[in-house]
Amino acid sequence: MPSGVITIAYIIASAFFILSLGGLSAQESARRGNQFGIIGMIIAVGATMFHQEVGSYVWLIFLMIVGGAIGALLASKVEMTAMPQLVAILHSFVGLAAVLVGIASHLAPNPMQGAELIIHEIEIILGVFIGGVTFTGSVIAFGKLQGVIGSAPLNYPMRHKLNAGMIGACVLLGALFIAGSAGTSLTALLLITLISFVLGVLLVMAIGGADMPVVVSMLNSYSGWAAAAAGFMLSNDLLIVTGALVGSSGAILSYIMCSAMNRSFISVIAGGFGVAEGTVVTSADGEVGTVTEIFADETADMLSMAQSVIIIPGYGMAVAQAQHIVRELTEKLRSQDVEVRFAIHPVAGRLPGHMNVLLAEANLPYDIVLEMEEINEDFPKTDVVLVIGANDIVNPCALDDPSSPIYGMPVLETWKAKTTIVMKRSMAAGYSGIDNPLYYKDNTRMLFGDAKASLSAIASAL
Ligand code: TAP
Repeated sequence: MPSGVITIAYIIASAFFILSLGGLSAQESARRGNQFGIIGMIIAVGATMFHQEVGSYVWLIFLMIVGGAIGALLASKVEMTAMPQLVAILHSFVGLAAVLVGIASHLAPNPMQGAELIIHEIEIILGVFIGGVTFTGSVIAFGKLQGVIGSAPLNYPMRHKLNAGMIGACVLLGALFIAGSAGTSLTALLLITLISFVLGVLLVMAIGGADMPVVVSMLNSYSGWAAAAAGFMLSNDLLIVTGALVGSSGAILSYIMCSAMNRSFISVIAGGFGVAEGTVVTSADGEVGTVTEIFADETADMLSMAQSVIIIPGYGMAVAQAQHIVRELTEKLRSQDVEVRFAIHPVAGRLPGHMNVLLAEANLPYDIVLEMEEINEDFPKTDVVLVIGANDIVNPCALDDPSSPIYGMPVLETWKAKTTIVMKRSMAAGYSGIDNPLYYKDNTRMLFGDAKASLSAIASAL
C-alpha cells in the first residue's frame, strides 16, 4: 500500500481515538466512545498490516490470532471487581513492548548520522527506561491488587536517595550509550534496562494498597509515554499520537483521583504512602459505640413513608452484584411518588466510574445519578439515605479526625440526613481499613446481610 494512503489511514484512526476519548468523558456517550475506539483500532491495525516493512504475514496473522484470542477470553471472563488487575497487567505488556522495540531499534542496521542519530538514541534510552519501569511496576501492581503480594508499603531507609541514585546511574549510562562504541553501547543499554526494571519494582512496592488505583492510573500514563517513545523510534506517527493521548489522559485521571482521595500527587509517585488493605486502623482512643440494627420490613416501611431518598452505592454493591435489584427497588419507590436519587463518590468501588458502569448496566436513568458535588448539600433535606456496601466514602473521620489516614478526603455527608440505613454484612472495615463512626450515630441504622439478599427482602416487603 502506498505510504500516503497509510498516513491518511493513521490520521483517520487518530481522529477516531480523539472522538473516543471525548465520548468516554460522559456516561451517556460512553458506549459510542468505545465504538469509535474500536473503529480507530481496526483502521490502525489494518493499515499497519499493509505497511511495506511487513515481511511475514504468516507470523503476523498467527500472533494476532493467538494474542487476540487470549485477550478476548480474559476480558470476557474478568469480573468487574478484578478490572484494575487486568488493566495493570495490560500496561505491563506495553512497557515490555517499548523495551523490546528500543533494544531491537538499537540492534537494527541504522543509516542515521550526526544530530539525527543522537536524537534517535535519546528516544531509545527514554523508551527503554520508561518501558522498563512500566513493565515491572505494572507486574507488581497486578500482584498487589490480586493479593499475590502483600499490600503494605515497603519502607526502608534512604529509599528516595536510592531511587535518585538509580535514575542518576541511568543518565550516566545513557551518555555512555550515546558516546560509546557498539559493544559498550549495548552493555549500557542492557544495564539501563536492568536498573529500570528494579526501579519499577521498588517504586510500586513502596506504595500502600489504598493508593493502588492512582498507581494503576499513573502506570497507564507511563505506558502511553513508553508507546509514544516507541513511536518516535519507529517513526510511526500513529503510535506517537496514541501514546501521547494515553499518556496525558492517564496523567489527568491520576490527578483527579489524587484530589478525590486527598492524596498528594508527588507522594503517590514517590511512594511510601498509604496503608495495607485489610489493616484495621481504629480511632486513637479506641472508643467503639453501640449500633442500632434494623430489618428489611422496617426499612421498607421507612422508605415508602419517605418523600426523598438518596441511594449511595459502594464496593459492596459491586461484590453482591445488586445493581438490578437496586433498579427494581427504585422503580417501586418512584411508582409510590418517592423521589429517589443516587449519589456517586468519585472513588466509590475499585475503579474510576465503577458505580456508574453498574447502574448503567441496570438501565437506571442517568438524570437521577448525581456526582458528589451535585448532591452533597441535599442531605439535610433528605428523609432516608440507603448506603449499599459503601464504607470509606461515607466516613465522617475524613472531615473531623485529623489523625485519620483519610483525613481531608471529600466524603458524602450522609449523617446530615434524617435517617441513614447502612447495608453491609458485618462491622468489618472498608478498603482503607478504618473504623467508621457513622455506624454509631443516633440517626444511623445497620441492616446486616448480603446487599442483594437485603435489597430483595426490602423489594418484596414494598
Ligand atoms: P469500601 O470502603 O471498600 O467498603 C465496602 C464495604 O462493602 C465494606 O465495608 C464491606 O463490609 C461491604 N461489602 C462487601 N461485600 C458486600 C456484600 N456482598 N454485601 C453488602 N456489603 C458488602 O468501599 P467504598 O465505600 O466504595 O470506598 C471505596 C474505597 O476503595 C476507598 O477507600 C477508595 O479510595 C478505594 N479505592 C477506590 C478505587 C476507585 S478508583 N474507585 C480503586 C481502589 C480503591 P462487610 O465486609 O461488612 O460486608
